[in-house]
Amino acid sequence: MKTRKQLTSIQYVTRFGLTLLFTWFFQQSAFAAVQNSKHDLSGQTANTDAVCVFCHTPHGANVTFDGAPLWNKVTDATGFSRYSTLNTSTLDGAEAPVGSVSLACLSCHDGTQAMDVVVNVPGTGGHSATGTQIDAANIGNMPGTGPIPNLTKDLRDDHPISIQYGGGGCSNNDPACTNMGDADFNTPDTAVINNIQQWWVDTGTAGRQKTDIILYTRADEITTGTIEPFVECGSCHDPHNAESDQVAGQVQFLRIDNTGSAICLACHNK
Ligand code: HEC
Ligand code: HEC
Ligand code: HEC
Ligand code: HEC
Repeated sequence: MKTRKQLTSIQYVTRFGLTLLFTWFFQQSAFAAVQNSKHDLSGQTANTDAVCVFCHTPHGANVTFDGAPLWNKVTDATGFSRYSTLNTSTLDGAEAPVGSVSLACLSCHDGTQAMDVVVNVPGTGGHSATGTQIDAANIGNMPGTGPIPNLTKDLRDDHPISIQYGGGGCSNNDPACTNMGDADFNTPDTAVINNIQQWWVDTGTAGRQKTDIILYTRADEITTGTIEPFVECGSCHDPHNAESDQVAGQVQFLRIDNTGSAICLACHNK
């Protein structure tokens, strides 16, 4: 085995360069994720350095809500004004009640609840099903009076959510969506995953990836006995992916880079 003394100066420079490169890559990838992103609220308080706790808890999660895994926030599905009430003459799909992952996003983004209200505060004890604030002095509700980033309870000015994909007609009775009600939509991919039919619009490598446009399976929402794919906030957004703003000024947390309206064109056949 070589000792340090036997390394040539070229080898030294190479090793030093590689160390720098790895450090840079590590910092880049850490930044590209949820850490240090707008979804990392740990920078706003001295009470915790935990990043995930504002959204997830490993134990004692909100069990009355299954729209997002191990969800650490109280959710409120009441009081929303919906896109469908505009009665645009071109709308085909039906809206289910506001739910699934959209309700998780709206537990901060509807502006009605402080963003640090969690079911299980960090550390021992401190579990409360009705929620406790981590740092009331420093973290409050979603900033702004709307419509963004505080979407408010008025969703009429937002892209429809909790809406059937492709105008309905895509369900467990026809998983391949061969009779999709609306030809204006691209046909999604489908597979049975964990015993339930799942759909997504593929944007690259075959199989369901986080960078695909995820459709969310919901059961008995429009027609009893069917399970269908729905468009939710998480179809276009990945709350951990701050990397998607590859173009200066682009919004973070998109599933894919939206250059040339790539996100819109993934679903809409336009
Ligand atoms: C601002 C809120 C928020 C924060 C902070 C957050 N998550 Fe999430 N996370 C979500 C939501 C919402 C979902 C559901 C997303 C979906 O349906 O694809 C999710 C889903 C997940 C999933 C399952 C789906 C996937 O994308 O892999 C894992 C695992 C996960 N989060 C881990 C973490 C970890 C670990 C952290 C901290 C480093 C974290 N999350 C921080 C909101 C958050
Ligand atoms: C996940 C798939 C998906 C993505 C991505 C998507 N949409 Fe949609 N969009 C839908 C569905 C489903 C509807 C409901 C349409 C219907 O049932 O007629 C809809 C409805 C609309 C409507 C209203 C149609 C009406 O008749 O009232 C507009 C406008 C629209 N989308 C534009 C966009 C734009 C712009 C983007 C990109 C920022 C986008 N969509 C991204 C699935 C998607
Ligand atoms: C714990 C609270 C919380 C939850 C839950 C949450 N967000 Fe956020 N989100 C924030 C905060 C804080 C900001 C920064 C707001 C600002 O601009 O000051 C933000 C900003 C954003 C932005 C704008 C990013 C940019 O580049 O300006 C998007 C997009 C977004 N969130 C989407 C989502 C989606 C989609 C979900 C659910 C999957 C979600 N958020 C869940 C707190 C939250
Ligand atoms: C059909 C796709 C789609 C759906 C569904 C969707 N978004 Fe977005 N959202 C986008 C796109 C694309 C952008 C970036 C727009 C831009 O560049 O101005 C965006 C931007 C945002 C922003 C930042 C706006 C700004 O100008 O700072 C927030 C916050 C946000 N979305 C939250 C949500 C939440 C919460 C939901 C669910 C209630 C949701 N989005 C559902 C596609 C979607």
